[in-house]
Amino acid sequence: MRPTNPKALKRKKTPAEPRREREPNETGRVRTVVLSPVLAPVTRKLHRTGTGAGERSPTARLEEAVGLALALDLDIRASGLVPVSRPKPATLFGAGKVEELEGLIRGEDAELVIVDLALTPVQQRNLETAWNAKVLDRTGLILEIFGERARTREGRLQVELAHLVYQKSRLVRSWTHLERQRGGHGFLGGPGETQIETDRRLISERIDVIRRELEQVRRTRALHRKSRERVPYPTVALVGYTNAGKSTLFNALTGAGVLAEDTLFATLDPTIRSLRLPGGTKAVLSDTVGFISNLPTTLIAAFRATLEEVQEADLILHVRDIADAATGSQRADVNAVLSELGIDADEALGRVLEVWNKSDLLDETGRQRVENESHREPGAVVVSAVTGFGLDALRSKIERRLNRTRDVLRIELGPDEGSLENWIYENCEVVERSNLGEGATALRIRIAPQKLHMLARLAGSARLGEAAE
Ligand code: GTP
Repeated sequence: MRPTNPKALKRKKTPAEPRREREPNETGRVRTVVLSPVLAPVTRKLHRTGTGAGERSPTARLEEAVGLALALDLDIRASGLVPVSRPKPATLFGAGKVEELEGLIRGEDAELVIVDLALTPVQQRNLETAWNAKVLDRTGLILEIFGERARTREGRLQVELAHLVYQKSRLVRSWTHLERQRGGHGFLGGPGETQIETDRRLISERIDVIRRELEQVRRTRALHRKSRERVPYPTVALVGYTNAGKSTLFNALTGAGVLAEDTLFATLDPTIRSLRLPGGTKAVLSDTVGFISNLPTTLIAAFRATLEEVQEADLILHVRDIADAATGSQRADVNAVLSELGIDADEALGRVLEVWNKSDLLDETGRQRVENESHREPGAVVVSAVTGFGLDALRSKIERRLNRTRDVLRIELGPDEGSLENWIYENCEVVERSNLGEGATALRIRIAPQKLHMLARLAGSARLGEAAE
């Protein structure tokens, strides 16, 4: 049982009101009301959470909350902005507002209410009692989404860990809250100290188990990554705001067919596939979990860990929904997270290439406008993952960008240099091989900068010559 604020309960007129019986939902989806509190500017600072860069309009924030709820396949019956002039510690909204909203929630027969803000456990509990519905706050909502999207074992463990840490911090917070309230004297009701202590201990134990499991998964993954490192292909990672079309683009670029190389990693991670580019370059493409604005701070670690692929990628494709009115602030959000990962998105010809998706949703004038803008630095490629528009141009651009960072070298090998030749085949892309006679060969190879050092050590730098493409 979670602790409640006794004062708030007293204020309720009929605390013992029997629970309402509900009609079963014929669609099988959960009837939901989405509320987006709009705090007065003075109080907003106190409630700021996460990394959000661009300040967005209340309507845009409500739309995002509804979008996230839709991503969970909830049946949205009503949504709206709710002004909050002074947040109440017990219920966030004032008593009159709580009652007014109760009418709306009852009218829609809603089972779930999403409040798009971080609520304290006390606020959540009191609102649940007042509205006779489950209440999910912003952190809870995002955790649900992460939980649905986590595809790998590591991802699932990380989400569970974030969930537990969230729960535990709530127990701690409400505990100190109650302690403050009783001022060191008699206990005013709610669960006893032991109940909270037990909950905390159980959660801590589970956290330890998960941390150990994560360690194990990471070790296996490191091994697995090592085997991938031996695949001499560069890596490309997709990032983007949630709903920008990453998965659609991932499928459009890699096609339905699973290639032989995929068996190497596809069994372990379905979000990684090989990518064939027009000039014959092969690359590895990986999909990632979508970005969300104002990510609650408690979730940043879990989210970042899912971006490991991004940190190691040779090229990052930032997929944007160019038809979305909020595309500018979404870009700012994504770039803020990338910069926390040490990636400068605005660096000209850097590691990030913007892909402006959903161009099919624009009218001719709009398409022409974004097409023109895309030619400005740092440059972007306009596509539609659904119609296939621009995908060939994107593939060529990816190839050019990848090969720009990799040197093309020429090396001659004698007949007794089998092991060096093996190393080259395992670590570099051999573009061309010619026979020089008497067992000697000449190789034209493409090599990643981080491997150059090793090759120079194995072969001797004097033997490495630059080769024309
Ligand atoms: P998350 O998994 O939430 O991060 O989303 P995502 O970025 O992977 O987006 P996803 O590929 O699931 O696409 C979201 C929605 O946009 C789907 O309904 C797609 O069909 C649609 N979509 C994707 N690309 C395009 C496009 O080029 N044009 C149009 N019209 N719709 C698109």
